[in-house]
Amino acid sequence: MAMSGVAAREIAGVPGAAKAASALDVRADFPIFARNPGGPGERALVYLDSGATSQKPAVVIEALAEHLRHHNANVHRGVYALAREADAAYDAARERVAAFVGANPRTTIFTKNATEAINLVAYSWGRAEVKPGDAVLITQMEHHANLVPWQVLCAERGASLRYLEVDEQGELSLEQLDAELARGDVKLVAFAHTSNVLGTINPVAEIATRARAAGAVSLIDGAQAVPQMPVDVAEIGADFYAWTGHKALGPTGIGVLHGRGELLEEMQPFLTGGGMIASVDFQRATWDELPYKFEAGTPPIAEAVGLGAAVEYLDGLGMENVRAHERALMEYMLERLGQVPGLRTVGPPASPSAERRGGLVSFTMEGIHPHDVAEMCARAGVCVRAGHHCAQPLMRRLGVAATARASVGVYNDRTDVDALIEALIQGREVFGL
Ligand SMILES: Cc1ncc(COP(=O)(O)O)c(C=O)c1O
Repeated sequence: MAMSGVAAREIAGVPGAAKAASALDVRADFPIFARNPGGPGERALVYLDSGATSQKPAVVIEALAEHLRHHNANVHRGVYALAREADAAYDAARERVAAFVGANPRTTIFTKNATEAINLVAYSWGRAEVKPGDAVLITQMEHHANLVPWQVLCAERGASLRYLEVDEQGELSLEQLDAELARGDVKLVAFAHTSNVLGTINPVAEIATRARAAGAVSLIDGAQAVPQMPVDVAEIGADFYAWTGHKALGPTGIGVLHGRGELLEEMQPFLTGGGMIASVDFQRATWDELPYKFEAGTPPIAEAVGLGAAVEYLDGLGMENVRAHERALMEYMLERLGQVPGLRTVGPPASPSAERRGGLVSFTMEGIHPHDVAEMCARAGVCVRAGHHCAQPLMRRLGVAATARASVGVYNDRTDVDALIEALIQGREVFGL
């Protein structure tokens, strides 16, 4: 596999450089950075928006192209050699993706994205199990993907939707969780592994354990966590765990749902049609076995192959190394952001909580609208996101209309952070601050 791997790199004269000694040095694996590498007179691409979508290493791009060039056929239908190759590639991708997060391939379902994975549970499990008078418990930090499906479900079923609050540190309270569970009506607890706005890493195994003890089913939205840290879904022990390929160096168009086998067996299909049946007569049909029961129609075959290559690449780097790299980078970013006058970060504070924070930070700047912050950064070649980040209720809780957000990936280093800080300081000058 073509990759630069983990390289020891000293950053002379930079405070805390020792912590960055195991930094990843993999930018050359990502062709997009060759587009404008920052030669003389040229602005380097400073990509600090991996929370929205990650860039793709050459091995992923090549795996997709190789599959489409040489092995393309539909799956689970044909007997000819090409079809068998496509079957083998799709099945191998599922095994690789499942192994990456300690899951069983049989209970690993490919979807379109994390949003669809969560909707699958809301429709197939939720419509059958949530009754009038029941409650669904989510948190104030959820992305709309893990909020709107529960709103719609609760409205439809006459159930109540309740929220775990986010405190001033951007964290949840296990005491409030216990109090909510003690009310005895909670059917489901759904929560993010890592918040896409606050960066908070939640104690997911603990929440799932407490939910189970109270007789509630748990669902974790791991869209931001899987790309950033070692995740073992069996160890976490939730009933459902959803994530999305495009944030984890894979292609768009593929997401993943891991589910508890007994629950998936009992659930009715989400979508119906070809590919998910055992047999069909004029009036009724029976369903295929797991995981195919939940994969109606032609699945995202090339995308699965691409995601397989992505997780193989991440495995090659080592997720412990990915986490260490991003954590060190975030420590540096929080320290440098703290030097920008009038800038306020949200989420767990810089110190001592790098441990409780993933690879992103949202912030506001006094006197400059977040959209102007993003625009100023864009002019300096720095890609950051501004807006409500698909978390409007959380924006309300934080008392802001929007924030700017910088998020890191395996290919970022301190020079990217320095470019961001420079753009912010220059921006303040433009605004006469
Ligand atoms: C925490 C979180 N959950 C869910 C999603 C939705 O992912 P997708 O759009 O791939 O379904 C996102 C994407 O931004 C996210 O950050």
